[in-house]
Amino acid sequence: MSDNTKKHRSRTDRARGGIQLSGVSKTYGVGEAAVHALTDIDLDIAPGELVAVLGASGSGKTTLLNIAGGIESADSGSIVIAGQDISGIKPAALGDFRRDHVGFVFQFFNLIPSLTARENVEVIIELTGRGDRRRVPELLSAVGLADRGDHFPAQLSGGQQQRVSIARALATDPDLLLADEPTGALDVATGREVLALLQQTSRDGRGVVMVTHNEAAAAIADRVVRMRDGQVIACETNASPVDAATVRW
Ligand SMILES: Nc1ncnc2c1ncn2[C@@H]1O[C@H](COP(=O)(O)OP(=O)(O)O)[C@@H](O)[C@H]1O
Ligand SMILES: [Mg+2]
Repeated sequence: MSDNTKKHRSRTDRARGGIQLSGVSKTYGVGEAAVHALTDIDLDIAPGELVAVLGASGSGKTTLLNIAGGIESADSGSIVIAGQDISGIKPAALGDFRRDHVGFVFQFFNLIPSLTARENVEVIIELTGRGDRRRVPELLSAVGLADRGDHFPAQLSGGQQQRVSIARALATDPDLLLADEPTGALDVATGREVLALLQQTSRDGRGVVMVTHNEAAAAIADRVVRMRDGQVIACETNASPVDAATVRW
């Protein structure tokens, strides 16, 4: 696919996206020190679907997210993202693929402290060569930060910083947004704003996976996946997801 076609992918193209994991396993270390972080995981995430992943600390949630987004490789199994099997591809190609398709949001925001909110979003566009700098004000406005573009991270609340990081993740127009405990460092009110943005992102047609400790937050999802000891122990479809604006915990 040429750069030009990539930049102009339509909603229809996105609709072919999603993630399909099958038989994914990952072990860290060897011998007696081996930790089976993931064992034989099967999971499909459709475009436009918001999936919450719940589980105790150490249950494999971050490993699952990192493998689903191509940050880490699996030992076995297949990972298909946006119609492409990434299981066997070389690290360099994987990096390109990740830049083209996946946006990440982290618990502690991972903004660059010496750059303003606007520059934190712009830098990802420069680094990846994807997205359009002229859209940055629109992105900041979409996360409720139209008047905060010139503020540095230290001048923003935790919730505002997380909203910058969501704008940054969306700047490259990814098919998938993967969020690792995105409300873990936030109070209820700001956490709710972040959840509302994730819900909106899925309604815009992107697949969204949100790792959380929080049952109340998981209620906004279309599907809840429960993990224990590296395995999926339950996968429940939520017939009526709660509107993020009304979530309480
Ligand atoms: N890089 C690593 N090296 C060794 N063990 C790891 C590494 N990353 C994760 N683990 C182990 O894998 C298991 C799953 O970790 P993780 O996916 O981070 O769980 P969670 O996000 O649910 O807390 C844990 O036992 C953890 O200690
Ligand atoms: Mg984790």
